Amino acid sequence: MSTLILSPVKRCVGGLVLAGLLASCGGGSEDPSQQLYVIKFPHVTAPGTPKGQTAARFEDLAEARFPGRVDVEVYPSSQLMNDDDSLEALAFGEIQMIAVALSKFDRLTQRFQIFDLPFLFPDLEAVERFQASTGGRGLLGDLVEEGFLGLAFWHNGMKQFGATRPLLQPDDANGLKFRIMESDVLQAQMIAIGGSPQKMAFGEIYQALQTGAVDAFENTWSNIYSSKFYEVQPYFMYTNHGYVGYLVAVNAQFWQSLPGDIREGLEEIMAEVTAWGNARAAAINEDSRLKIAASQRTEILTLSNDEILSWQNRMQPVWVRFSDEIGPELIEAARSASFMEVGN
Ligand code: SIN
Repeated sequence: MSTLILSPVKRCVGGLVLAGLLASCGGGSEDPSQQLYVIKFPHVTAPGTPKGQTAARFEDLAEARFPGRVDVEVYPSSQLMNDDDSLEALAFGEIQMIAVALSKFDRLTQRFQIFDLPFLFPDLEAVERFQASTGGRGLLGDLVEEGFLGLAFWHNGMKQFGATRPLLQPDDANGLKFRIMESDVLQAQMIAIGGSPQKMAFGEIYQALQTGAVDAFENTWSNIYSSKFYEVQPYFMYTNHGYVGYLVAVNAQFWQSLPGDIREGLEEIMAEVTAWGNARAAAINEDSRLKIAASQRTEILTLSNDEILSWQNRMQPVWVRFSDEIGPELIEAARSASFMEVGN
């Protein structure tokens, strides 16, 4: 939201924004070349995260390229709504753009579950290779029937565990209540290690950890740092056992209603900021990890190769259970991108 002084067109749009219903307004002008297009883009993470920085860059570049024609309103930190609500709001055209964690599309497409398979991707480069493959790119179009058009995949980072006690072996997790995202794969993963999974919105994690409503969770270093989860969890385990990334999607009807030059320009900018943000994501996470360690508010435990292997073995049945739903060929594409051995 870079414009504070409202032009006549902005005032009209501001009214509509408050009503929360429409995306654009002609400002009383019949001339479509004067129309201002508002893109409301809520998300749940802090401005300093990979998603927060990339969304802000999209806003800056889009408004600079289309002054007076495009107004991108980024709402970080769950200011406007949580992810579940944003999926619904996008479908109804109340907002125009989202970047929601891939895990949270579980109820819309089973194929996105691939991103939740534990220990599938060793690092962000492997994820990137998969997303650039034919199978990976095909996922961008998976939600057309829901009225969503996938524009890009953005990275956050690799997941780590946080808990009230050290988790060196899977048995150490036995009986702990784990906050998870809305994902059946993550639910199965936590059950496989003896935990009790609880699906919960991102904005509720801090308080749930603080009050002991949950004992443990998984997330990326950048989210753990920027949302201060490290202040309320005594132990973190550096496991890289999973991936958090996003589908950037738009309301398809809105997108198709844009004039061709604006739509193409925004797609170019999206490609540019995606490359920019994804290239920085690993460094942002590493910087967050170092800041958490320096805070001395918590302990970060690095697991041995044998310990990691026992987590991999314990979680392996999750792959078997979800293989048919995801599609074995898609899993194979991801494995080749990861250069992993089959069936370990
Ligand atoms: C996000 O990174 O957007 C949120 C992930 C989560 O809900 O844990």
